[in-house]
Amino acid sequence: MQFITREFLKEKPAKGAELGFGKYFTDYMFTMKYREGRGWYDGKIEPNVPQRFDLAANVLHYGQGVFEGMKAFLQPDGRIAIFRPDENWARMNRSAERLCIPRFSAETAEKGVEILLDAERSWFPTDPGTSMYIRPAIVATKAALGVHASSEYLFFVLLSPTGNYFKHGLAPLRLIVETTYARAAVGGTGEAKCIGNYAASLLAGKRAEEQGFDQVIWLDSAEKKYVEEAGSMNMFFVIGDEVVTPALNGSILPGITRKSCLQILRDGGYRVSERRISAEEVAEAAESGKLREAFGTGTAAVIAPVGTIRYLGKDYTVGGGKIGEIAQTLFDTVTGIQSGRLPDPYGWRKYIK
Ligand code: COI
Repeated sequence: MQFITREFLKEKPAKGAELGFGKYFTDYMFTMKYREGRGWYDGKIEPNVPQRFDLAANVLHYGQGVFEGMKAFLQPDGRIAIFRPDENWARMNRSAERLCIPRFSAETAEKGVEILLDAERSWFPTDPGTSMYIRPAIVATKAALGVHASSEYLFFVLLSPTGNYFKHGLAPLRLIVETTYARAAVGGTGEAKCIGNYAASLLAGKRAEEQGFDQVIWLDSAEKKYVEEAGSMNMFFVIGDEVVTPALNGSILPGITRKSCLQILRDGGYRVSERRISAEEVAEAAESGKLREAFGTGTAAVIAPVGTIRYLGKDYTVGGGKIGEIAQTLFDTVTGIQSGRLPDPYGWRKYIK
């Protein structure tokens, strides 16, 4: 694989700096190109500098683009481990298929990321709770305004040293159930990680923030009744002794943290259901004192406890506004496996060679 070096390296964030999420980017990136008739080619590590783009590129007009989010962790023994990258590559290829983007070799992408991570070792944050966020994306680059799948693409992977996604860390979130807008419909692109889904979510997210909420809880688009997911996370509710997460239905993103939590919970003997759950049921459970916990899961957010849910103008407090026992257990287990503090019984850590 070609490695094009740059002359000047960037200044790194100071040790102990509040990294937040997705604000800093390392010196290099992995890229490869696609052209119809040739396939994917020219995989290389190159300087991460602003790119020149033809403004007629398909992605800029019709949004033909997909992305992923994964994390790598510096282990106590100095090795670097990525959390479940095979799951991300598989999902990215499924998203690509939905957006008419040609499949890529997960092996090539993984190799590129491993070389990149190794080269950027000095950028790894070391404070507790930090990691290297990995952002792969594919965008359609052919300059053509006809509404067709592009014949050219750019695949790139950026690295971003990252801390908490939410500015108050593990403090419970305030979420508002969105009853006007919908994020996605069954048959649409909701289960694909495509860029348009996030653009469609921005207005509701902005209005929620203006009212003092962190994110929205999305309902199904047909009946506006059943919980689908939250802004950047899948949702879980603990009602009595049942842990419930909305069943994947084609419009919900199949989260890898969601999948990991389901496995940890089932193996821990919890009663877990993947089923439809209405906002009404959540509100009633809160009212009757049965809603013990609510939390979101995601690569960026990890496990994010929810302290307040507003539904139809009424605020429901969850678990006394504090992080619940199950959310805390999941947070400790997932981050323990990721960071190497705990053993890895599932083989979720992939060490770079
Ligand atoms: C992630 O959790 O990695 C995501 O991609 C969600 C969001 C930050 C876009």
